[in-house]
Amino acid sequence: MKTYFITGGAGFIGSEFLRVIIAHEPDARVINFDALTYAGRLENLEGLDARHEFVKGDIRNADEVMAALPDECDAIFNFAAESHVDRSIESAHDFVTTNVLGTQVLLDCARAKGVKRFVQISTDEVMGTLPERDDAYFTEESPLRPNSPYAASKTAAEHFVRAARETFGLDTVITRCGNNYGPRQFPEKLIPLMISNALDDKPLPLYGDGMNVRDWIYVTDHCEAIWTVYEKAAAGSVYNIGARNTMKNIDVLTTILDILEKPHSLIEPVKDRLGHDRRYAIDPSRIENELGWKPRIGWKEGIRKTVEWYSGREIEG
Ligand SMILES: NC(=O)c1ccc[n+]([C@@H]2O[C@H](COP(=O)([O-])OP(=O)(O)OC[C@H]3O[C@@H](n4cnc5c(N)ncnc54)[C@H](O)[C@@H]3O)[C@@H](O)[C@H]2O)c1
Repeated sequence: MKTYFITGGAGFIGSEFLRVIIAHEPDARVINFDALTYAGRLENLEGLDARHEFVKGDIRNADEVMAALPDECDAIFNFAAESHVDRSIESAHDFVTTNVLGTQVLLDCARAKGVKRFVQISTDEVMGTLPERDDAYFTEESPLRPNSPYAASKTAAEHFVRAARETFGLDTVITRCGNNYGPRQFPEKLIPLMISNALDDKPLPLYGDGMNVRDWIYVTDHCEAIWTVYEKAAAGSVYNIGARNTMKNIDVLTTILDILEKPHSLIEPVKDRLGHDRRYAIDPSRIENELGWKPRIGWKEGIRKTVEWYSGREIEG
């Protein structure tokens, strides 16, 4: 029987990944190790109770990890992180302890228990920002130039993952994805916040001029890509994950308002985020060509499903 150890499985992406892994491997033993910070929510696990084992624990605590990690483990998928850029600007402390130290603790435990593969869930933000040109893209060869404390902590984590591979020969792979959207995202993040404000006829705060570009992917597509990388990628490899769906922030907001039939006048420009990266855009050619992964859910369908989930009603599309 396969055994998988997922950290951060009570969060937005980790809880979707639990659903994806259980669908691929219905007989596997799946352990979800999560500290239940403000971002981790047991309601994200609804319907999964009988399908996986939940362990409350902190990836910074080696004793807790060692106690929960089985002796025979096929893979660790490390989703656990402090993930909100604005919070990292307020204070980077927890970002360093969880994202960097916590990853190193997991790598040490993986070695101690002979875990077969370590999958680090990273982000395109490690590559900083791109020039404001439509033909500028991140590739796996782009330099790591993080700009926010969040991105710096995820970059440091990647370096420790690489070091575990190079120094100790641990089987590791790294995935770098763009912005995710879909059900169960913590309501402080852009898309759920904008949907809930629009539903309440409250202003939709838009940073700066709204021209910042992000590359959006439906969360299920991201999780399927991680599964593909786990199954097929060579040890030590890095894969960018993206759905070729770059959007300006202002266009994301107007799409949500149009779906909910609310006026664009609800958009309210606010002071820009400090160090706000201008453009993220991912070239996913490597994962498409080498591993045969492709996204399945387009923006139009994905954002409608997302709005439906948060609003609790069906929307004609
Ligand atoms: N959200 C995105 O758009 C995005 C894009 C690319 C990569 N990622 C990465 O994907 C991963 C998951 O992101 P998310 O949006 O689901 O985050 P999230 O904030 O929704 O969830 C994080 C989860 O980690 C848990 N956690 C936090 N600190 C912990 C600790 N010390 N020990 C154990 N558990 C802890 C939380 O309780 C929570 O359940 C992160 O590593 C993030 O960097 C996110």
